[in-house]
Amino acid sequence: MIRNLNLLYFSATDTTKKVIKSIAKGFNEDAKEYDITLPENRMNSLNFKENEIIIIGVPVYAGRVPEFLSEYFLEKIHGNNTYAVFIVVYGNRAYDDALLELKDIFENNGFIGVAGGAFIGEHSYTERLATGRPDDGDLNIAYKFGKDISEKINNIGTFTQKLKVKGNYPYRKGMVYEPVMIDTDESCINCGICSMHCPTGAIDKYDNKSIDIFKCIRCCSCIKRCPVNAKDINYDPHKKFLIEFISKYSSVRQEPELFSTY
Ligand SMILES: Cc1cc2nc3c(=O)[nH]c(=O)nc-3n(C[C@H](O)[C@H](O)[C@H](O)COP(=O)(O)O)c2cc1C
Repeated sequence: MIRNLNLLYFSATDTTKKVIKSIAKGFNEDAKEYDITLPENRMNSLNFKENEIIIIGVPVYAGRVPEFLSEYFLEKIHGNNTYAVFIVVYGNRAYDDALLELKDIFENNGFIGVAGGAFIGEHSYTERLATGRPDDGDLNIAYKFGKDISEKINNIGTFTQKLKVKGNYPYRKGMVYEPVMIDTDESCINCGICSMHCPTGAIDKYDNKSIDIFKCIRCCSCIKRCPVNAKDINYDPHKKFLIEFISKYSSVRQEPELFSTY
């Protein structure tokens, strides 16, 4: 059976997107792309058929699938024995139970897991953790993974084994969102880049200094994209936490981990 390729990803700071695109390149076929990073792209329900395959990618937030995404997936994304590849991207600390959770969500919604992987992306909070990743080595692994999955699907056709990935039950306790302000200093030029890319529509598009802290998920897209470095989290406990965090998790380079049913 010929399977049409689909990509579905959330990527606030573009690292997940890079990994998913490289895996897709390995398939060497046209893909239909659903970038669900912006809120307007998460409005519609999507139903995938049996003759399709989908590569799904999310960043790891607190060792889990970002909570607002798991709710969206369960409600709006459905398959019909659709083959799926599950990808999580994390910032060199750990991916804990995120890959297992992603697999469970989609397998409960009509998808059949054929492969999964955990990749590493520069940490949203700081350029000093997993700096510049995914790098060429990571993207090459992603490309070969895609090529391998595509060949296996074409050669084997039907998979009888159930996909197993790393992770534990009960899942790690998720993130508790305490509203923390993203500060904007006087250098802000109100260019609109931050509000245009904000995944929850938390930044006012006419006044880019105005942020709804109850909508903000601290994905750091605005901080990383600001052309004049006007945004930061200046909250002291966060700064202190970051210093300890960087010294704890920057010495070991984590490597991609891959799982498959074949
Ligand atoms: C709120 C939040 C929580 C995060 N939690 C983790 C984590 O538990 N483990 C980890 O290694 N990285 C964690 N990260 C880092 C991201 O998973 C990582 O930077 C990822 O590459 C971001 O993907 P994106 O560029 O597609 O948005 C977290 C980032 C954010 C914003």
